[in-house]
Amino acid sequence: MDIAQLKQQAAEYAAQYVTSGMVVGLGHGSTAIFAVRDIAARLATGELKDIVAVPCSRQTEADARALGIPLTTLEAAPVIDVTIDGADEVDPALNLIKGGGGALLREKIVAQASRREIIAVDEGKLVPVLGTVWAVPVEVIPFGWRSQANYLATLGAEVTLRRSNDGEPFRTDQGNLILDCRFGPIAQPEELASQIRARAGIIEHGMCLGIADDVIVAGPAGIRHLQRKQLRFL
Ligand code: A5P
Repeated sequence: MDIAQLKQQAAEYAAQYVTSGMVVGLGHGSTAIFAVRDIAARLATGELKDIVAVPCSRQTEADARALGIPLTTLEAAPVIDVTIDGADEVDPALNLIKGGGGALLREKIVAQASRREIIAVDEGKLVPVLGTVWAVPVEVIPFGWRSQANYLATLGAEVTLRRSNDGEPFRTDQGNLILDCRFGPIAQPEELASQIRARAGIIEHGMCLGIADDVIVAGPAGIRHLQRKQLRFL
């Protein structure tokens, strides 16, 4: 079974938590798109009714619109019932690294506005400690970005400016830059998160600590549904 099939299984399992009448957050990336397609298919058959969705990125907005999912904004619907998204790494406490697709800021805003954040991953995303495999993406405003890169290096990161396929600096949906910060295994993610956020010019980082309520993990042996004990109520 290839990784795309596992992503699809996890995303479609997660999408079953979307029911009629909900405000739904739609994540970004190659896993979340399977949930978007599943929701659209269930809307088309009439199995799902009266949902409105808040997309986490311009790409997801375009995909959802093309598939006929009714869209709204977080301004119009500031509390979301359930959001389905992907992640790059998941640790045993269900903390995440997100932002491989560059949508970390909107993904975090939508996640924190959600009563329930469900993350769908293939089991290759499970790590013992955050930072084991992935760099932490950090979104910075273009003004003075090299100064922010130097600061992140003082925190122990090997810093790379993310580039698009054409070689130009990658721009987020907000027009910002991404610095991919390879820290290696991160012993104290909360402490690192607050150090990163302490710097002006840094908008957000891709560590999502205490945000995921459920993680759906698909592997060759089947699906596992991991849950954090305490759900958030907004
Ligand atoms: C997008 O910015 C990310 O947070 C994605 O959710 C994450 O990178 C996982 O991506 P895939 O689902 O494409 O593996």
